[in-house]
Amino acid sequence: MKTPGQAVWTKVDRYFGDLLVPIDDALDAALKANEKGGLPQIDVTPLQGKFLEFLVRAIGARRVLEIGTLGAYSTIWMARALPADGRLVTLELEPHHANVARQNLEKAGMADRVEILVGPATESLRILENTGAGRGVTFDLIFIDADKQGYPEYLTWALKLSRPGTVIVADNVVRDGEVIDEKSEDPRIQGVRRFVEMVAAEPRLSATVLQTVGEKGYDGFALAVVLS
Ligand code: SAH
Ligand code: DHB
Ligand code: MG
Repeated sequence: MKTPGQAVWTKVDRYFGDLLVPIDDALDAALKANEKGGLPQIDVTPLQGKFLEFLVRAIGARRVLEIGTLGAYSTIWMARALPADGRLVTLELEPHHANVARQNLEKAGMADRVEILVGPATESLRILENTGAGRGVTFDLIFIDADKQGYPEYLTWALKLSRPGTVIVADNVVRDGEVIDEKSEDPRIQGVRRFVEMVAAEPRLSATVLQTVGEKGYDGFALAVVLS
């Protein structure tokens, strides 16, 4: 068999997706609303959404932080896996994305456990750290999926908002293999490279990277657990 490429990745994603990700009206409606609202189709795939759900359940997360909401597709996956008193805070720069996300969360019945903070993530993180309710608060799972240039700074914040056992996940760290181009002039690639180097050098973290293929191409997740 010749080396499988995009066509096979897509078929295999559909094969496992059909078996493991039942048709879901709220998630399908969210993707339709995103399209109608002109949002870019850069949400995680269904099987990746289920992976995020799996993580929330596996670690028994009660508090989740997401950096990069888009239309809340990944948000809905994670929020659903929380216990009834669980909370998810998600950060989004674009007011239009946040509005679509809010409607999608309402339709999915998840609006009561999700808070969307609108604005540059770094500002929202500062507010999160300083406001009364957020002071001294830590998260059990932190999903980094906003602008790739910002990843190094988001890692610093993630560590600040962590406790031993917190799991940090970062999307899109492979980018069709572009990550290995050390001379890349793309600031997104340099952001991801710097992020991974910081993770590697951080004694508080134990980390790995899982390369992924599927209907949205070749990419990967960085996965780290906070040790101390
Ligand atoms: N997690 C989503 C996809 C997020 S796409 C999902 O899988 O469904 C990345 C999002 O990050 C976009 O909506 C973009 O507007 C947002 N973003 C970009 N720069 C940002 C910043 N500086 N602060 C907060 N959000 C940002
Ligand atoms: C892009 C961002 C993402 O978070 C993603 O999963 C895919 C693509 C982008 O900015 O191109
Ligand atoms: Mg992403």
